[in-house]
Amino acid sequence: MFAVNSTGRLPYRYVTVLAVALAMLMLARPAMLRAADGPSYRECSPNGRLCFVLSTREQVPVYSVTRDGKPVIDPSSLGFMLRGAGKWQHGMTLGEPVRSNHSERWEQPWGESRFVVDRHNEMRVPITEQGKTRRTIDLVVRVFDNGVGFRFVFPRQSQLSDVRIDEELTEFNLAGKADAWWIPGGEANRYEYLYNHTPADQVGTAHTPITFRRDDGLHIAIHEAALSDYSAFWLQRIDGQRFRTRLAPSSQPWKVRRTAPFNTPWRTILIADNAPGLYVAADIILNLNEPNRLGDVSWVKPHKYVGIWWAMHLDKWSWNAGPKHGATTEHAMRYIDFAAAHGFKSVLVEGWNEGWWSESGRNFKFATAYPDFDMDRVSAYARSKGVEIMGHHETAGNAGLYERNLEQALAYYERHGIHAVKTGYVADAGGVLREDPDGTEQWEWHDGQYMARHHEDVAIAAARHHIAINAHEPIKDTGMRRTYPNLVSREGARGTEYNAWGDPPNPPSHEPTLLFTRMLSGPFDLTPGIVSLEGRDGRPIPNTLARQLADYVAIYSPVQMAADLPENYARHPDALAFIERVPVDWEQTKVLQGAIGEYAVVARQRRGGRDWWIGGITDDAARTVSLDLSFLGPGRYRAEIWRDGPDGGIDGDRFAMIRETRTVSSADVLDLTMKSGGGFALSLTPLGRSKK
Ligand code: NOJ
Repeated sequence: MFAVNSTGRLPYRYVTVLAVALAMLMLARPAMLRAADGPSYRECSPNGRLCFVLSTREQVPVYSVTRDGKPVIDPSSLGFMLRGAGKWQHGMTLGEPVRSNHSERWEQPWGESRFVVDRHNEMRVPITEQGKTRRTIDLVVRVFDNGVGFRFVFPRQSQLSDVRIDEELTEFNLAGKADAWWIPGGEANRYEYLYNHTPADQVGTAHTPITFRRDDGLHIAIHEAALSDYSAFWLQRIDGQRFRTRLAPSSQPWKVRRTAPFNTPWRTILIADNAPGLYVAADIILNLNEPNRLGDVSWVKPHKYVGIWWAMHLDKWSWNAGPKHGATTEHAMRYIDFAAAHGFKSVLVEGWNEGWWSESGRNFKFATAYPDFDMDRVSAYARSKGVEIMGHHETAGNAGLYERNLEQALAYYERHGIHAVKTGYVADAGGVLREDPDGTEQWEWHDGQYMARHHEDVAIAAARHHIAINAHEPIKDTGMRRTYPNLVSREGARGTEYNAWGDPPNPPSHEPTLLFTRMLSGPFDLTPGIVSLEGRDGRPIPNTLARQLADYVAIYSPVQMAADLPENYARHPDALAFIERVPVDWEQTKVLQGAIGEYAVVARQRRGGRDWWIGGITDDAARTVSLDLSFLGPGRYRAEIWRDGPDGGIDGDRFAMIRETRTVSSADVLDLTMKSGGGFALSLTPLGRSKK
């Protein structure tokens, strides 16, 4: 390993050794980048194992990442294509780094864990173009024990003020042969694809998070944090295992327009020995976001909800008014009764307002109910039963219309005692409609700069009305919930609706894949709990009953739906008993075991409580896991278990479920069998000394 001197520079003799070694390697591998031609600056993680090195090669800025001295990211170039101002990439020199370190433990208002530790070392290096223009962009790097984040800061300077970015040229040159789990970026169906599992050198253009597993077992996930007023990036493969950022387009010739000073989102690389380790490393995404800007958010309440929803996806009811209309006063009151009887705190009502499924959402009215829905009566009835309505704002991608009506729409809900709203942007990618002040219509992408701004503006406006947002067809999660804790959940993946009408439905490998890909970015409104195991026209859902329960623990969301029809829950009281009781807000989380796309076992402790809840999920292979309970505190626990029966599995009886109780302690190891497409769920409640 190279030693760094007190200035943080590599000593000259090491730079020389490095240059010679690289020159020799170049002869062997002509495709490699040239040797470093200036100073190299290195910043390592607090435990010293992960290091980020910034240097220039042929005066192009390049970075690399090593772990225990071995390459994780081979030299990868950085740069920008700037409209009307040429490329910013060549003829660069590095200025002196400014370094700092940080160690903090901060508390989340809600989350997978109450406390998050942020320990990192930082360096900030100005990168300046030589010649006449002398444009400077700083690179800020934070190195954690299990990953890195870096971003560009565009300082105030006369020669680069109105910045129009055509493309960001950040490369990720993955070292070591790897497999990848990924969904395509830039395709019509936004983030709603089944994951591909391919060799890394067969990835096309992918959304992030994208997860890689190297042949030597190292796990790496690339994503971004704090996506504010900038385009999301897709990860485009250039050649071999070399990738580059490709920014989501905008309606303008450029992809991003900003006035300096500003900074880009963080580009993040999570690095772990195994899949569970990646889940831990994902705290980096939160740590790289700004702290809570909303102050007291006690009005944001994690909870479980039911709703006028699944019946529409089954095509029994409709969103729009007519003979099959779902959101009638009568139906809503029935759902309120069901929620009150079973302890669900809100009832989502979709399709109550006028304008459903007009072309490009042009006719949506956000405060006008269909004649057969009485919002005053329904919300008063809900209040009398200790339940709230969860509002819904479908826009069909007409974000412009929504923005123009936002204040009125939110105020209307606030007047009706509503504290959570599900939003929706159903439109093909690139089909988001915005309207400029002069009335001109423009088409935008769900993950372009305009929508990044839109989602942030909606969060801020909703906070003024004490409303939490659960966005469907959203922009990807980049940890902004830390800054705006009313961003409680979102979609941004194939959810349970695909089990109603999807072709194919979500296979059992979907959730064990999501856990180590999409879930690294934040909560997902999966909408589980389909105890009928049946989609539209009776099509079977490839899951067992116990698996539907396990998903409540495995797939995190602070608002979690009991998505099935009330009459179906009446037929499955054992399953309903679990759904009623499972918490949604956690003191701590441990992913005990798991392999991407195969299986996972997740343990979470109730926030403010001593009881643990565990979910095990498997793909279409049956497997028995040994559940080591040594993480439990002292004393005995009552374990209540919901697991697949011996005849269970998607190739057997999907409803075969055993509910049993045992007494256990931290000395026990439980062997639990999951059948194909199955799982298990269990609660562990301290005996005797429990407060709950
Ligand atoms: C798609 C959403 O994912 C779904 O939950 C919703 O019911 C429909 N859009 C209608 O808004």
